[in-house]
Amino acid sequence: MNITIKVNGKLETHPAEARTLLVDFLRDACGLTGTHTGCDTSQCGCCTVFLDGEAIKSCNHLAVQTVGHEVTTIEGLGANGLHPVQKAFTECHALQCGYCTSGMIMSSVDLLNKNPNPTEQEIADGLEGNICRCTGYVNIIEAVKVAAKEINGVNA
Ligand code: FES
Ligand code: FES
Repeated sequence: MNITIKVNGKLETHPAEARTLLVDFLRDACGLTGTHTGCDTSQCGCCTVFLDGEAIKSCNHLAVQTVGHEVTTIEGLGANGLHPVQKAFTECHALQCGYCTSGMIMSSVDLLNKNPNPTEQEIADGLEGNICRCTGYVNIIEAVKVAAKEINGVNA
């Protein structure tokens, strides 16, 4: 069957099976390979995208479940240039191999949308569903702090 999902503001219609995971639809059908597949069991967070503005793991949603909803991937985040979180990850060297990065950034944006001025502990708690196999957590947390300052209009 063909399914149609609004992704990054654009309707994407592609053949998919009822069992097709959202992460596979995004990567294989839409060509949006910024969203990664890691564990496929909801453990690592590298598949994190937004569904109607809320962070979800796209490996635990079927593509067909998101029909009628709006999906945003890392490619759609900085539609008007890099999002402050994307800039901060670059400036703070908050990525090494980069495998976890798109999921980390999506979860960080979700965290800052809900709590624009988080403490270090709140950042750590907010990102607990995302694993960095390169263990770059110190710089990741620093990047979220820098992004929060920019979002709040405070010089980093
Ligand atoms: Fe979805 Fe790991 S691939 S949480
Ligand atoms: Fe390599 Fe996080 S930068 S897994």
